[in-house]
Amino acid sequence: MKVLVVGKGGREHALVHGLWQSGAEVLATQPNPGMAEHARAVDVAPTDIAGLLALAQTEHVDLVVIGPEAPLVLGLADVLRARGIATFGPGQAAAQLEASKDFTKKFLNRHGIPTARHVTVTELAAAKAALRTFAEPPVIKADGLAAGKGVVVPETWAQAEAAVQAFLGDRTLGAAGATLVLEERLVGPEISALALCDGKTLLALDLARDHKRIFDGDRGDNTGGMGAVSPLPNVDAATRARIDREVLAPTLAGFLSDGLDFRGVIYAGVMLTADGPKVLEYNVRFGDPEAQVLIPRLGARLADLLLATATGQLAGRTLPADPPAAVTVVLAAAGYPATPRTGDAISGLAQAAARPDVLVFHAGTRAEGGRVVTAGGRVLAVTGLGATVADARARAYAAAADIHFAGQQLRTDIASSVV
Ligand code: AMP
Ligand code: GLY
Repeated sequence: MKVLVVGKGGREHALVHGLWQSGAEVLATQPNPGMAEHARAVDVAPTDIAGLLALAQTEHVDLVVIGPEAPLVLGLADVLRARGIATFGPGQAAAQLEASKDFTKKFLNRHGIPTARHVTVTELAAAKAALRTFAEPPVIKADGLAAGKGVVVPETWAQAEAAVQAFLGDRTLGAAGATLVLEERLVGPEISALALCDGKTLLALDLARDHKRIFDGDRGDNTGGMGAVSPLPNVDAATRARIDREVLAPTLAGFLSDGLDFRGVIYAGVMLTADGPKVLEYNVRFGDPEAQVLIPRLGARLADLLLATATGQLAGRTLPADPPAAVTVVLAAAGYPATPRTGDAISGLAQAAARPDVLVFHAGTRAEGGRVVTAGGRVLAVTGLGATVADARARAYAAAADIHFAGQQLRTDIASSVV
C-alpha cells in the first residue's frame, strides 16, 4: 500500500511511523527529520491543494492521510475524493465542526448532544448585554480558527468584558473573532474522546487526556498540549458508556441526518461534569499529542484501519488491545508558548529511541549541518508504551531524560493523575 501523509508535526510522525510499521510505502510532505527516517520526502506544502492532488495522481497513491486541520478546512479531502482517491479526513463541510464554534453549537443543539448553554453574538453592544444573561462570567470563544488563542476563560466580569472588547471591538484575531460564542462555564475533568468514522460506522478509540497548560499542576499559559495518556483507567465503564451513547452515537446520527460524509477521525473534547459528559469542542483530526499515544497502540493495524475508514469498510473491524497503555511527554523549546526559541542543538535522540517500548516523535525539529536542532515550540513527543499507565509513564520519562537541548521545558506530572 502506498500512502501520502499530509502534515509535518508530531502527530504526523506518529502516523508515518505506524504506517511504516504496517508495511506501507509512505510519502510525506516536507517531513521533519524524524518522519524522514520512514517516509520519502515530497516537497509540496500541506496546504497546496493543487500540488497535493497532482502528486497523489502521479504517484498513484492508494490512500491520502490528512493530519492537520488547515488542509481539511481548505477542502483537500473533497478535491481528492472527487478524483477517486481514497482519503482519510473529512470534507470541507464537516470540517466546519472545527473551523466554526457557532456551527458546532448549532450542530450539538440540533442533535441533542449535551453541551454548555450559549449565546452567539456579532455586535459589541449585544455581546456586552449578553454577558449579563449569565450568572457567572461566561467563557468567550472566537468563532473561527485562532491557533489556540481564541478561547478565554475569565475569572471576573472585567476580564470577560475585556475579552469581548478585544475580539469583537478591537478585532485582535481579525475575522476569526468577528463572531463570538459566549458559553456557560462548566467544571470537571476534561477528556478527549476520538472515534474513527467511515461515513456510516463509528469505531471509538480508547479515551485519552491531554495536558494543556505549560507548567505542572495545570498552571501557566495554554499550549498546544504538553503530554497525553491513554487509556484512562479512572474513567469507569458507566461514564465511558455515557460518552458513547450521549456524545459519539448522536454525533454519527447528526452526520447522517445532515448529509455530512465524515471519513476520518472525529475528536470530541468532553468535560465530565456533575450532570454528565458535555462537549466543549470538536476537532476533525487526531489530537496532537493524543495521536502520539493513540496511534502507537494501533500498531501494525494502522494502515488497514485508516484505509477501511477512508473506503467505508469499518464495520466489523476491531481495535488491537496491545500495548495496553501509552504516555507521551512533550519536550518544548525555551520560551514556548509565547516566543519559542529555535536553533538549539538536540542530543540524546538515538539513545532515547534505542530504549525498548519507547518512540521518539519529532514535532518542531530540523536537520542542520549533520545535527538535529529545535525548529518549533513543541520539539519532540517521547512516548512510552507499557502494560499499565504507570509502566508507560516510567518509560516515557526515562527516555525523555536522555534528551537534552538548551532551555528545554517539560512537565513532570503527565499522566500522574491516572496512575
Ligand atoms: P475549546 O477550544 O472550545 O476546547 O476551549 C479550549 C479550552 O477552554 C478547553 O480545553 C477548556 O479547558 C476551556 N473551556 C472551553 N469551554 C469551556 C467551558 N464551557 N467551561 C469551562 N472551560 C471551558
Ligand atoms: N490536543 C489538542 C488538539 O489537538 O487540539
